[in-house]
Amino acid sequence: MSAGREVKEAILKQNPTAKIDAMELDVSSTASVNKFASDYKATGLPLNLLINNAGILATPYTLSEDNIELQFATNHVGHFHLTNLLLETMKRTAHESSKEGRIVNVSSRRHWFSYPEGIRFDQINSQSGYNALSAYGQSKLANVLHANELARRLKDDGAEITANSVHPGAIPTNIFRHHIFFSGLANVFGKFVLKNVQQVKIRVQRTWEQQRHAM
Ligand SMILES: NC(=O)c1ccc[n+]([C@@H]2O[C@H](COP(=O)([O-])OP(=O)(O)OC[C@H]3O[C@@H](n4cnc5c(N)ncnc54)[C@H](OP(=O)(O)O)[C@@H]3O)[C@@H](O)[C@H]2O)c1
Repeated sequence: MSAGREVKEAILKQNPTAKIDAMELDVSSTASVNKFASDYKATGLPLNLLINNAGILATPYTLSEDNIELQFATNHVGHFHLTNLLLETMKRTAHESSKEGRIVNVSSRRHWFSYPEGIRFDQINSQSGYNALSAYGQSKLANVLHANELARRLKDDGAEITANSVHPGAIPTNIFRHHIFFSGLANVFGKFVLKNVQQVKIRVQRTWEQQRHAM
C-alpha cells in the first residue's frame, strides 16, 4: 500500500486535479479478491477498464493460502476470479456510459514455457516435478486462454466490452528477482538489449496519442 500511495502522490504532483484511490488487493488470496471486489462495488464507482497486470515469475515451489501453486494462483486464478466478480459492474458501466469497456490480461510470450504439455490441470499443485519456469508458462498461457474465451462470450452476450491478452515486451523489472539466470541477465545486459521502464512509458503514451488522433 505504501508503494501505491507513493505512485498516487507522484501522479497528483503532475496532475493535481486527478482523482485517484489506492485500494488493497492480494490477487493470490480468494478472501482478499472477494473483499476488494465487494469494497469496490460498495463505492458505486463505474468501471470501464480492468488491467490484470500483477504477476510473479519463477518463484520457488509455494502454495497460496488457498492451497494453489503460487504462480498459478497469482498470475491467473486471482485475476480470473476478480474479473468475474467485476463483470456485471463493467457491463452496466459500458451500457450506461455508451463507452466500450476493456479487459486486458498482461500475459507473456513466455507462455511457451508450458510447451509441450500446456496446462497440467491434474498436476497444478504438485510439488514433484515442479519447474518454476514451466509453472510461469502455464499461468501465462491461462491468461491468453481466459482472454480468448471471455472475448468470445462477451461478443455472444452483445456486451460492449473487449477482452485481450498482451505481451508487454521484455523489461528489466523486479519480476526477475526469483530467477538467478534472468535476474543476472537483466542486470548485466538489460540496459543494452531490453526496453527500460521509461521507454515503455513513452511507447504507451505514443500509442494513446495515436489512438486519440484516430478517433
Ligand atoms: N518484465 C518483463 O519483461 C515482462 C515480460 C512479459 C510479461 N510480463 C508481465 O508483466 C506483468 C507486470 O510485471 P512487471 O515486469 O512489471 O513486474 P513487477 O515490477 O515485479 O510488477 C509486478 C507487480 O505485481 C504485484 N504483485 C505481485 N504479487 C501480487 C499479489 N499477490 N497481489 C497483488 N499484486 C501483486 C507486485 O507488487 P509488489 O511489488 O508489492 O510485490 C508488482 O507491483 C506481469 O504479469 C508479468 O508476467 C513482464
